[in-house]
Amino acid sequence: MALRIYAPATSANISVGFDSLGAAISPIDGSLLGDVVEIDDCKTAFELESVGRFVKKLPREKEKNIVYQAYVLFSENLKLRGGKVKKLRLTLEKNMPIGSGLGSSACSIVAALVALNQFHQNPFSKMELLAMMGQLEGRVSGGVHYDNVAPSYLGGLQLMVENQGEICQPLPFFENWYWVLAYPGIKVSTAKARAILPESYSRADIVAQARYLGSFIHACHTKQEKLATAMMKDVIAEPYREKLLPNFAEIKQQCKSQGALSVGISGSGPTMYAIAPDFDTANKLSSYLENNYLQNDSGFVHICKVDKVGARELG
Ligand code: HSE
Repeated sequence: MALRIYAPATSANISVGFDSLGAAISPIDGSLLGDVVEIDDCKTAFELESVGRFVKKLPREKEKNIVYQAYVLFSENLKLRGGKVKKLRLTLEKNMPIGSGLGSSACSIVAALVALNQFHQNPFSKMELLAMMGQLEGRVSGGVHYDNVAPSYLGGLQLMVENQGEICQPLPFFENWYWVLAYPGIKVSTAKARAILPESYSRADIVAQARYLGSFIHACHTKQEKLATAMMKDVIAEPYREKLLPNFAEIKQQCKSQGALSVGISGSGPTMYAIAPDFDTANKLSSYLENNYLQNDSGFVHICKVDKVGARELG
């Protein structure tokens, strides 16, 4: 019987945790912001179909489709442990814009691997599956990083520990926060946004980064909202990437003056995130970003909350 798996969008880095923090997000209006992969029995060994709003943006060659690559990687790993790959058909519903800073590739990867694992009665553990997800993400983005795939798969706010046999662990987060996400409608390639970052940083930057991230994590555990937002600073990526985003500095300043607790680049951009302490401020920020940050008809703004569930089966 067909199985439909949804994997939610994510906001990675959260300014202070480059490659090490990410949150799964869901619009509060109940709409689904993420990709869906359907899996079903098939007469031939394997079929892949892609549909959805952003299907035209996918690579033409099947082999370059990340869902195809997920199938190949899953099959290789299953065979290595003596398992048999079933005949199956995958359908990718590509609902997420590509190169958006909302973990678009992660949504496809996570939905595909969760669907494949479930279809084969879960031969792989969560961390084994997550390791495969990171490997695939590395292929599309020019470097293995788990800060999109981990929250999309497991939900919540995740800290990449990459130690003791675990890739990530959940962090407590501020439930009152509204995450206003504004995608301007233009593309920023993650690989390119990674390539423009410096190879090394000054001692002053490293010390500042350690203090910011350490204090942010401490603030999450001790429920110090003011400390947490004061520490959401980015010395690693934002100074080098902001030129890729339209009028970033001015928009950030305006959002702050309208009550945003923190504003920054979501993932590698061009989506911007703004944290609002309450619904009224979130609405104000949403209107401002809609009128001032969107560049074309593909752009959108969503008021979101952290998605606690992550990838899930749709009824
Ligand atoms: N941490 C990654 C980066 C996220 O900033 O390059 C990419 O979505």
